[in-house]
Parts: sequence; C-alpha cells; structure tokens
Amino acid sequence: MEKKLSLGVLVSGSGSNLQSIIDHIEQDRLNAAIAVVISNNPHAYALTRAEKHHIPTAVITHETFSSREEFDRAIADTLDAYAVDLAVMAGFMRILSPHILNRFPQRIMNIHPALLPSFPGLHGQRQALEYGARFSGCTVHFVDAGIDSGPIIIQAVVPVLETDTEDTLSARILREEHRIYPQAIQWYAEGRIQVHNRQVKIIAGGIPDTDGHHNPPLTMTSL
Ligand code: GAR
Repeated sequence: MEKKLSLGVLVSGSGSNLQSIIDHIEQDRLNAAIAVVISNNPHAYALTRAEKHHIPTAVITHETFSSREEFDRAIADTLDAYAVDLAVMAGFMRILSPHILNRFPQRIMNIHPALLPSFPGLHGQRQALEYGARFSGCTVHFVDAGIDSGPIIIQAVVPVLETDTEDTLSARILREEHRIYPQAIQWYAEGRIQVHNRQVKIIAGGIPDTDGHHNPPLTMTSL
C-alpha cells in the first residue's frame, strides 16, 4: 500500500464532513490519515469527534492574534509541525490569506454548500433558496486568494424543492458533501488531480456520465 496522505482538517463547527472523512479512512476507502484537526472555535463539536477517534487537535482562535498574518502563520506552522500534505477546510469559517496559501500552493481544499460560482460566501444554501434556484449542490475546490473562487475539483447537484427550508436543503446538500469530499481527497492521494490554469483534470477518472449528478463521476464507493 502506498504511503498514506497526511491530512490537516480545519473546522469551526459540527464537523459532519470531518466525520465522513474519518469514516471513509476507517473503512479503508480513503488512503489517508488525519494528522491534526485545527479549530478556530474552542466549542466546535468537531473537536469532540476528533478526540473520540484519538486524533490530535489544536485550537487556534483568531482573537488571540493581533493580525490575520499571525493567525495564518500559526495555522501554517501547525500544519507543518504535523507534516501535513493536504489541508482540508471542512466548515472552517475563516478566509485564508496569501500568507498561508503561498506556503501550501494547491495543497488546501475547501467544500462549499452551493454550485460555484453561484452563491459564494456565507449561507450558500439560503442564497440559493432566496434566489429561487431550482438546483443547488456542493463544490470541492482548491483554495485561492478569492472567496470560494479556486479551481473546481468536483461538484454534486441536488434539487431545490418548493417546500424546502434552509434546514432541509442543507441536509440534502450535506449528504452529497459527505460523498464528494472523501472522493476528492482520494483522487489527490492517488496523484490523479492536475490543474491547468483553473481547469482541473482527473487522470483516468470514471466513465463520463452525462445524466449523473456528480461530475466527475465518483470512482470510489462512498458510505
Ligand atoms: C458545510 O455545509 C460546509 O459546506 C459549509 O459549512 C458546513 C459545515 O458542516 N461550509 C461553508 O459554508 C464554508 N463557506 P460540518 O461542520 O457539519 O462539516
């Protein structure tokens, strides 16, 4: 078996995406190991999830730093201290500055609860509902200096129902987040992701599925 990809997971809240990554690793679907979970929120339930699985945690609160640069340096230093290959933002509610991005070029992923480039920023689900979009979904992308603007790795589509509330739509989107994030990380672990300009190619990805709601199609069995 190849060396496992060393992950640092950045969280702020519930950590259901973290849980999905943990579960895919524990079920040998994802060839990775979580070296550290970093939270900017000391009360994040994600920290409890990590502790239950004996994963090291670090709390780095932005209030303790006088500048964004220092906060970002503390995160980057922690990722380096744990020899992280890839950082994944899983509900991490801070924007990263070039101070950290330049140290981890194309080594930071994010998941966003909308079909980018629609509805970036906060409350992607609420934005889609209020706009009246008929479809929304989720996006895994590399992080660049903009807001949810980096190269797109994979997207999944879900319908927006007329009866939806923010909660019901968020839950439908989250189910897809829990599939596409482990998949994107596994492609990275396999060295199958190539980026040209802002187009991402998955080397030897699945058979194109013109009717599917995941694009590229999933090549791993998700839980
Ligand atoms: C997820 O829906 C994620 O896409 C979103 O926060 C939620 C975190 O859930 N992220 C953003 O909105 C980032 N702008 P989780 O803590 O249960 O994984």
